[in-house]
Amino acid sequence: MGYTLTDVDGNVYLDFSSGIYVTGCGHSHPKITKEIQDMVGTLMNCHDFTTPVKAALLEKLVEILPGDLNGVQFYSDGTPAVEAGLRAARVATGGLEFISFWKDFHGKTLGSVSLALMSPDKGLRATGFFLAPRPNCYRCPFKMEYPSCNLYCADFLERVIDEETTGRLAAIVMEPIQGWAGSVFPPPEFIPRVREICDERNILLFLDEILTGMGRTGSWFACEHYNVVPDIMTIGKGLGNGFPVTAMVVKEEYKDFLEKISASSSYGGNPVACAAALATIKVIEEEKLLDNAKRIEKVIMDRLEKMKRDHPIVGDVRGKGCLFGIELVKDKDTKEPFDEAGKLIYQRAFQKGLAWIPAGHILRMSPPLIMPPDMAEKGMDILEEALSEVEKELGY
Ligand SMILES: Cc1ncc(COP(=O)(O)O)c(C=O)c1O
Repeated sequence: MGYTLTDVDGNVYLDFSSGIYVTGCGHSHPKITKEIQDMVGTLMNCHDFTTPVKAALLEKLVEILPGDLNGVQFYSDGTPAVEAGLRAARVATGGLEFISFWKDFHGKTLGSVSLALMSPDKGLRATGFFLAPRPNCYRCPFKMEYPSCNLYCADFLERVIDEETTGRLAAIVMEPIQGWAGSVFPPPEFIPRVREICDERNILLFLDEILTGMGRTGSWFACEHYNVVPDIMTIGKGLGNGFPVTAMVVKEEYKDFLEKISASSSYGGNPVACAAALATIKVIEEEKLLDNAKRIEKVIMDRLEKMKRDHPIVGDVRGKGCLFGIELVKDKDTKEPFDEAGKLIYQRAFQKGLAWIPAGHILRMSPPLIMPPDMAEKGMDILEEALSEVEKELGY
């Protein structure tokens, strides 16, 4: 319930994963559960027709979406929403090709997997999809330093466009903050510069906010931190607080294209899903969870910064709202990734009562937005204890 999980033996864990970045309002939030239960007894499917609950959700969603993003199509999984976004971008621009970024994650179907450079999917990518190096200031792919790099990653993105594509680009697709790859933040000017590049070249900007949206980073959507409004956005995970509901959203001027891509699906926007999403948005508002996410950020980042100072294997720490990453290294100068330490710390912290996302050398944490700050502090105590024990065992 809420921010804890109980296993079959009765052990209670603090949930620092929110399912998998999903249950921002906590498990089985009573208000959301009630709305879902009521709707199950009323109407479960009405194809893609507008129902009162869908109309109410659309109104509410458009209220919280940035800029003039107001053309909405619902789905039940993140991946079909991404696929619909790709189709919409092609229809809207007449372009065929896409550029995305190393190690971003967008799903596992042919189009979405083609946007990523992830083993073991490398051989599965379709043609017409190009990848650019993703900015990562801790491990700059160009071995430069921010800010003296002068945003070379954005210049290089333009080179990828010029050298690799035929010029018939439909969209640049990106996660505003990389989730799966380890909560990696771009330098602050990068996304605004990508927006400019898109405008200069008549390419659409498609931000995949499936993981970062719905308050995960302390704002409704991560693009707000960068003052950028995309042309296309996808939302999922936290939207239904665990009930499968996702959305592909386009700007006002591209609304008509939803018709042209035959956007509907069997379950997308069904009344139960709409009831779940509407209740979720209301809970985030009523319980002021965006403010709480910022409180959690302060508690956790203070502790992580201290861990970075005090522990030889903590190379980098980063976070916003309720999205965090800790990079473990064998040596702070060489930055050699320390996978073994990550696995051991993950297991040790789990045994001590921290349920979180399995790790390689990057520890990823996403507590729910409802986590009380003192419980966030408790989670950090568990993490630091596990970290100290493992460090000692590994001879540091
Ligand atoms: C940024 C991003 N896009 C797309 C997806 C795919 O969503 P789903 O697993 O709901 O299909 C994910 C899932 O983790 C994601 O994090």
